[in-house]
Amino acid sequence: MSIPAHLTASRSPALSGRVRAPGDKSISHRALILGAMATGVTEIEGLLEGDDILATARAAEAFGATVERLGEGRWRVTGQGGFQQPTGVIDCGNAGTGVRLLMGAAAGYPVTATFDGDASLRKRPMKRVTGPLARMGARFDWKAVEDRLPVAVSGGGLTAIDHVQTVASAQIKSAILLAGINANGVTTVTEAEASRDHTERMMRAFGVEVGVLPDGEGWRVSLRGGQALTGTSVAVPGDPSSAAFPLAAGLIVPGSEVTVEGVMLNPLRTGLFETWREMGADLAVSNRRMAGGEELGDVTARHSTLRGVVVPPERAASMIDEYSILAATAAFAEGATVMRGIGEMRVKESDRIALMAAGLTACGVRVEEEPEGFTVFGGPVRGGATVVTHGDHRIAMSHLVLGLAVEEAVAVDEPGMIATSFPGFVELMRGLGADIAASA
Ligand code: S3P
Repeated sequence: MSIPAHLTASRSPALSGRVRAPGDKSISHRALILGAMATGVTEIEGLLEGDDILATARAAEAFGATVERLGEGRWRVTGQGGFQQPTGVIDCGNAGTGVRLLMGAAAGYPVTATFDGDASLRKRPMKRVTGPLARMGARFDWKAVEDRLPVAVSGGGLTAIDHVQTVASAQIKSAILLAGINANGVTTVTEAEASRDHTERMMRAFGVEVGVLPDGEGWRVSLRGGQALTGTSVAVPGDPSSAAFPLAAGLIVPGSEVTVEGVMLNPLRTGLFETWREMGADLAVSNRRMAGGEELGDVTARHSTLRGVVVPPERAASMIDEYSILAATAAFAEGATVMRGIGEMRVKESDRIALMAAGLTACGVRVEEEPEGFTVFGGPVRGGATVVTHGDHRIAMSHLVLGLAVEEAVAVDEPGMIATSFPGFVELMRGLGADIAASA
């Protein structure tokens, strides 16, 4: 199947239907990595089959695990109880989570592995992870420029550290904890604001004892080195970060009612839903249930009259990937939506503050950009732009959703990158009635 140069979203009639969210990206990476570190078989249901995850699956194989696809979303990882010396470069593609967590895991073993990624990943900072790992005793050989991929990691013989996070980041915390499993002593990570806790939860499922103590607004996570991981089963819940796109379309396209089933409702991931509710969104959760150690629910969004809000900066960690789609919906709200304390957005797959500001401005929306945030002024949205995405899946999907509710069609470039996190996005949206077309 050839990938078109552009996708174009046009004003659509009321959207309706029930869809399933694709598997959670964060949990999918972790299931493959922990499965590869463990002894024995890990059976995974609902794995996200996006390009980011497929890169991590190949990495797990390169480190000596056997990785088999049994059916749609059904994967089996057979680990050897540790990473083996890989041959060749570990190419993590576009995946920041993949490379950072894998570097942490690899640092715990006596192997040398060179990690690389695509043009976007090569621009992203790595020292935030390699710094603490180096303090534990891992060695890093930067192949081009310090702090950027490609880098060779030499691991083994680690000593535990006590790390206090200066950046609210689950990736950094997870890399340190993954290394800590094979470090001498007790590794501790203290977070001022709690970040997503999927690593901690999943390690327990693999038989690792992880301690979590409240510490102010955040917590201290600790684990003793030398613990063995045993293969287990992992049910991957639906990704709230992906569910956000069809739900956003439901909120802004007049007359719509869209339900996304099986969405993970871990409170460290649902800041967007809370914010939308404060904006007046008609968002209902039904069929709450537990699966794979996480709470899930079916989330229904109906077209709503939204009003602008000030998003509390301390909520950032629980919705850091959602500010782009929040900004797109804020364009339809009455008044200003103020988003601050989100400098981290500038070092994601792209500089998301800059690209959202540029894309929305091109669509006729007033945006004020700040170093660590931006404000979107709602009102009638014209559209009528071709948006440069710099290969960022969330920038592309945010503008396509916006295009469904505006006067003039909105096009995005590099649409193939949507498959990093949400393969099947276009078909799913079309199934709800969205007018999204491929163009040259
Ligand atoms: C992720 C953590 C977040 C998020 C990313 C996934 C994870 O990054 O942006 O998409 O799975 O741990 P940071 O922890 O760097 O904020």
